[in-house]
Amino acid sequence: MKQEGNPIAMLTAYDYPTAMLVDASGIDAILVGDSLGNVVLGYDSTVPVTMEDIIHHLKAVSRGAKRAMVVGDMPFLSYHISREESVRNAGRLLQEGMAQAVKLEGGSEVAETIRAITAAGIPVMGHLGLTPQSVHQLGGFRVQGKDGDGARRLIEDAKKIEEAGVFAIVLECIPQQLAKVITAEVSVPTIGIGAGVGCDGQVLVINDILGMYSEFTPKFVKQYVRLKEQIVQACSAYKDEVKNKKFPGPENSFNMAEEEMKKIY
Ligand code: KIV
Ligand code: NA
Repeated sequence: MKQEGNPIAMLTAYDYPTAMLVDASGIDAILVGDSLGNVVLGYDSTVPVTMEDIIHHLKAVSRGAKRAMVVGDMPFLSYHISREESVRNAGRLLQEGMAQAVKLEGGSEVAETIRAITAAGIPVMGHLGLTPQSVHQLGGFRVQGKDGDGARRLIEDAKKIEEAGVFAIVLECIPQQLAKVITAEVSVPTIGIGAGVGCDGQVLVINDILGMYSEFTPKFVKQYVRLKEQIVQACSAYKDEVKNKKFPGPENSFNMAEEEMKKIY
């Protein structure tokens, strides 16, 4: 798709019904991201997300995605302790979670890990720029690679992880000019999120494009629908009808014959 100049469209999903809908839209790939922690589990970062959390949701998404490629995110510390543990955890996302590939964050520091996982026959997607699992080290959620030194480091990291065997690289929150340079410098596709239109593809969090909440939404998000308002409105209309005894109506209720009723008494 990179060679054909056919942009790759990717979205996250975390459950079976959403995966069915995303799959039906013709999306190329579905990521069960550790953004699960933020948008589904109610944490304020991705750090608390565990292997069990990812596998649980990955299983559901894999059952729903008949066509799109399914990628499972490796959570914090699942690929940092040892090479053995990293390969085993990556393998679990395929074997138990039925993913076709895994994604992990980092540059040259994870190159050997990427090598080991790909050597086991597991496709690995890289992730550079704003890597949320390192938020405490990065000092907050902010655009990365804005200065020449940082930009050069990211270009080097992209080359290092390409060499280590990644089949694609997510570029998160970096200047669009830098994303274009990286996209030209590597032969594998770049998938941007907050990285401009010059990437080989784009990824966004499903809850963000659907407008599921109106609290802080980052600049790189576009809401294609505002479901939050519609959902609150539907719940409120139902609640009012229950309180007013307007719901359930006769059309929502079951009947029994008069003579059968008589037999009760
Ligand atoms: O966890 C996630 O959803 C991600 C994407 C935003 C790239 O890593
Ligand atoms: Na992630």
